[in-house]
This record gives sequence, structure tokens and C-alpha cells, in this order.
Amino acid sequence: MNKQAIEKDQQDPLVKFRSHFLQNENEIYLDGNSLGKLPLKTKEVITTIIEEQWGKQLIRSWNDHWLALPKRIAGKLALLLNASSGEIVVGESTSVNLYKLVHALVQSGEYSRQLLTDSLNFPTDNYILAGIRDQLDLPQPICVSYSTDLKADVDLLKEHIQKNTRYCLS
Ligand SMILES: Cc1ncc(COP(=O)(O)O)c(C=O)c1O
Repeated sequence: MNKQAIEKDQQDPLVKFRSHFLQNENEIYLDGNSLGKLPLKTKEVITTIIEEQWGKQLIRSWNDHWLALPKRIAGKLALLLNASSGEIVVGESTSVNLYKLVHALVQSGEYSRQLLTDSLNFPTDNYILAGIRDQLDLPQPICVSYSTDLKADVDLLKEHIQKNTRYCLS
């Protein structure tokens, strides 16, 4: 490996966390936002959930372990994000949350009915927008396309947003 890269690794204050994750041989994995590397602890926790909480405690696990999870996780996220208690809510999946959010904003009547997305958006996000368009009888969502599939042109995206959407109350 490149000497400079090894030195940088040695100076990295986060380097000790490497050993907390499962490492595959000869792999540099940088795509961490959607599915990060597997934390070793996760294997342990999932085994306990399956074998003990589900397997042995069955329905009792809802009260003993699971119902409080959204609040516990929200509390941990609030610490990380410097948010006040009650400001973070954890629940549902990304897709369900996106659906609820876009649907509620459009239904409020305070925002534009013109949805706007881009060609690099997560495909399921675009399917959700198309579903809301059909459900609420909205115009066809605008889909901003870029000259490359590798990088969004943020300025172009901003330009489309400014041109095509607006707060109804502004
Ligand atoms: C931008 C984006 N949208 C949607 C999803 C789908 O998430 P879910 O399966 O939780 O609905 C993901 C998942 O990584 C995502 O990154």
C-alpha cells in the first residue's frame, strides 16, 4: 500500500474503530451511507434477538425490549446530532417516511404541487413520488438529468428548484 496512505491511517483518530467491523480481504469499501460495513457487534446482537428475544421470550419481547427501541435510538441520535430530547423521532423505513412527508407537505396546501427529483435519486424514492402524483393528481414530477451518472450538478438542481417550486405562502 502507498506509504503516505499508511501514514495517514496511522494518524487517523478513528483508526481504532476499524477493528469493530468485519473486514473482507483486499477490499476498500467507501459506500457507507446506504449500507455500511458490518459491525462485529451486530452479529452478536442479532443472534441474541433471534435466539433469545424472539426464540425464547416470544411476544413478551415487545414489552421487555422492542417497544421502547424507537425512543432509545432517538435519544442516542439526539446526542450525536446535538438535538434536544423529543426533536428526533425514529420509526418506519426511509421509504415510508418519505411517503408520509411528501404526502403531508403537498396535502397541507402550503407547498408547490410540482414535485421535483433527479435522475441520480434512489429509484424507490422516485417510485414513491410517482405514486403520490397519481394519488393526489399532481403534475408529472420534474426529473433533473445530469451530463454524467457519477455526480449531481448541484447548481443545476438548485436552478430547477428555484424555477419550478415555491412555497405557496411566500
Ligand atoms: C436515499 C434513499 N432512499 C431510500 C432508501 C430505501 O430505504 P428503505 O428500504 O428503508 O425504505 C435508501 C436506502 O438506503 C436511501 O439511501
